[in-house]
Amino acid sequence: MPREIVTIQVGQCGNQIGCRFWELALREHAAYNRAARFDDALSSFFRNVDSRHDPPQELPVGGAIKTLKARAVLVDMEEGVVNELLKGPLADIFDSKLHITDVSGAGNNWAHGHQVYGPQYRESIFESIRIAVEPCDSLQSFFLLHSLGGGTGSGLGTYILEQLHDEYPEVFRFTTSIFPSADDDVVTSPYNSLLSVASLSEFADCVLPIENQALQDLVSVVDAASGKKAGSAVTGTRGSKPFDSMNGIAANLLLHLTSSVRFQGPLNVDLNEITTNLVPYPRLHFLMSSMAPIAAPADVGKMTLEPRALGQVFTEVFSRERQLMKAHPGGSTYLACALMLRGQGCTVSDITRNVERIKPRVKMVYWNTEGFKIGLCSTPPVGLPYSLLCLANNCCIGQSIGAIKDRFMKLYKRRTYVHHYTEYMDQGVFDTSAEQLHNLVSEYAALDVAVPPPSQSQFTNSNIMAKLLVLSLLLASAVLLAT
Ligand code: GTP
Ligand code: MG
Repeated sequence: MPREIVTIQVGQCGNQIGCRFWELALREHAAYNRAARFDDALSSFFRNVDSRHDPPQELPVGGAIKTLKARAVLVDMEEGVVNELLKGPLADIFDSKLHITDVSGAGNNWAHGHQVYGPQYRESIFESIRIAVEPCDSLQSFFLLHSLGGGTGSGLGTYILEQLHDEYPEVFRFTTSIFPSADDDVVTSPYNSLLSVASLSEFADCVLPIENQALQDLVSVVDAASGKKAGSAVTGTRGSKPFDSMNGIAANLLLHLTSSVRFQGPLNVDLNEITTNLVPYPRLHFLMSSMAPIAAPADVGKMTLEPRALGQVFTEVFSRERQLMKAHPGGSTYLACALMLRGQGCTVSDITRNVERIKPRVKMVYWNTEGFKIGLCSTPPVGLPYSLLCLANNCCIGQSIGAIKDRFMKLYKRRTYVHHYTEYMDQGVFDTSAEQLHNLVSEYAALDVAVPPPSQSQFTNSNIMAKLLVLSLLLASAVLLAT
């Protein structure tokens, strides 16, 4: 049965990463779907609008993509990026009824996106979402792509999330959220990030945070490995940030994450299962991700992987260099962990063997020591024999959330730029959001040091010891009295 996912890409970053995702996904399907059939797996992300056939149908590949439509709603309050997409080679896969744009943008102001554009565009956005949802047989989840640093992706993005919670309460809400780097050139990004994380903690079922600094570092590693000058092969649309290569890495992560939904596989894991298995407490749903090998999109397809044991990628995803967040889970407690392998000829026992090998090196929370979820998709990434994605619910994410709060406090204690926000919202929203982040940080910290309560037998043993002690004291005093 198809389990459809409706993607909602909001703001510049959300649309740019979304665009790379669709481009790579189409290339993958063109490369692997040799029978060119429109099947259930493909229908998770795409709709076939060719009404002449009943599925299974011809998969239109190689330029003739007019009958294939992405289940995607494109939203941006600056029309530039969406207009570019609609002029580009992917234009035909986007349904013209599912774009909502304005011209002026939210000016890097969460409150403008959330409080002004949200209510103003609610009806048209939800009409588009309804159009995207209607043809789905069994909608699995909404997949929100956005950044937290600006105004539209963060403010309007979280507004949409909150409304989805009300409109489609039974449908999972999965977000890929780009966290700004500490030196982000958007001066108000600490405010936007704090307000967004507070909303994400309440209204998302699962958040995949990706840090721009981590993406930049990964680009340098890939560039160095391919002998390029760091950041050389890249172009950004804001400043000189290497967004192209960075987005390629983020899109590859999404490609991997969704591979077992988009292809048939022996041990498929859908987005809801990730949430169910990795999120033991509803609000603690921020997952650390790491991948091995990391490939830049320009290299995908051409890349040859040095012969290496499969075990090496299992080791690499637990190393700091492969993280898409700068925090390092190594020293902190894992609440749960998913290992999703893509590769032809790989088996479930390849994974379980490596999980057993890794287990002693990983500090799992005491009540979930077997909390490893595994997934296997037998379709490898284009150009690679296999790749591994690790998703971890690890307490170290509390430190990243704490860093967002610290950056916010630095600005907020001087009330810098606050008046731009209070034009649209009550200042109290800052305080309640800061408190929400503070609570999140404390909850992760408490779990990080949690130890098992004394067991029943220990209680029993100590009771027996105490009773023996009292008895021997009584005996001793009786002996003394008798003598
Ligand atoms: P407004 O322009 O304020 O209306 O909101 P927006 O959502 O369009 O803003 P944008 O997505 O540009 O958010 C700015 C933040 O996103 C900053 O932290 C940027 O560094 C980051 N950013 C912008 N575009 C990209 C991108 O294509 N890729 C990545 N990785 N980050 C981006
Ligand atoms: Mg913008």
